[in-house]
Amino acid sequence: MKLKVEAANGCYDIIIEKNILQDALIPDAGNYAVVTDSNVYELYAKQLDREKVIVLPAGEGSKNFMELERILDNLLQMGMNRNDTLIALGGGVIGDIAGFAAAIYKRGISFVQVPTTLLAMVDSSVGGKVAVNLPGGKNMAGAFYQPEAVFADACVLDTLDSRQYAAGMAEVIKYGYIADSLLLEKLKRNEYEIESVIYDCCRIKAAYVEEDPYDKGVRMQLNYGHTIGHAVETVAGYGKYLHGEAVAIGMLAAARLGEALGISPAGLADETAALLKQYALPHTLDRALLAEAAGAIAKDKKAADGKVDFVLIDRPGHAVTEPLDITTITQYMTGQKNL
Ligand SMILES: NC(=O)c1ccc[n+]([C@@H]2O[C@H](COP(=O)([O-])OP(=O)(O)OC[C@H]3O[C@@H](n4cnc5c(N)ncnc54)[C@H](O)[C@@H]3O)[C@@H](O)[C@H]2O)c1
Ligand SMILES: [Zn+2]
Repeated sequence: MKLKVEAANGCYDIIIEKNILQDALIPDAGNYAVVTDSNVYELYAKQLDREKVIVLPAGEGSKNFMELERILDNLLQMGMNRNDTLIALGGGVIGDIAGFAAAIYKRGISFVQVPTTLLAMVDSSVGGKVAVNLPGGKNMAGAFYQPEAVFADACVLDTLDSRQYAAGMAEVIKYGYIADSLLLEKLKRNEYEIESVIYDCCRIKAAYVEEDPYDKGVRMQLNYGHTIGHAVETVAGYGKYLHGEAVAIGMLAAARLGEALGISPAGLADETAALLKQYALPHTLDRALLAEAAGAIAKDKKAADGKVDFVLIDRPGHAVTEPLDITTITQYMTGQKNL
């Protein structure tokens, strides 16, 4: 399956096919280097030329300036030039940091995304947002830099642990709610090939990226479940919940909030909870955690004018962005009003 992304800041193909990993790891022309993490390297060491590989310690902790500089130094030592290619082989952490390295090394070299987690296949490898974290916040230094191509080989997901897989499914469920009721039906029936689900998600993300390449408007609908999800990640301490798990909680809370405000249809939250449960994701709301998360939302800089653009579902498969008062959101989250 092949999909084209035609964004103002870059056009490229997303190729979703089994057993394409080997081909994806060697570009047609020029020199190349591969950035990967220690877990993925272990899995694919035999298929990689050690001389061309830069291995980062696995995990979010590597998405920082120190590792970025190490990648850049290695590229220089490898003699990489402007027309050579950097290949990101890994999950979202690797895609984000390697993509940022490609964006700034010699003012930009080609890069190819070879996502190896479900989350990276359906989300982070598409759209051209690349970044590292700062001590003060996640993804606070980065760029918009589209890849030359994305190669998603679902076979690599066989080694992914079930919790990581489920976390990727949370983003899949998100796409269903914001843009594709047929995808939701497929998920509910549990009748699908994972490639077709990856294709659906990339198609939806590509459409948002094409319409809003620099994330200034409608693309924010991709943040459904993320306002509360991010706050949950922050207050629970990074590491307690995987990102997708926090998004699951965020979507359930957003569905309850949407119902309470009369924007989402009655029953949406229960339906969401059932689907999250089906995919082994958090499907209940911890009131104390939500109340704490409310504090984090209130502190967020984006909330300076007292409002946040909050994504809600007005019918399954369709999202709306509502400017909501922070106080309204926090009243519900802290239990002053009933969710
Ligand atoms: N750029 C974007 O638009 C965007 C969107 C969403 C998320 N992100 C970023 O993505 C990151 C999260 O991505 P992630 O969830 O893929 O995390 P990750 O890259 O840390 O991967 C999760 C874990 O799975 C392991 N792994 C990867 N592939 C594997 C495989 N095939 N088999 C076994 N283990 C494997 C990794 O080593 C790691 O331990 C965050 O930093 C987030 O900010 C970026
Ligand atoms: Zn997300």
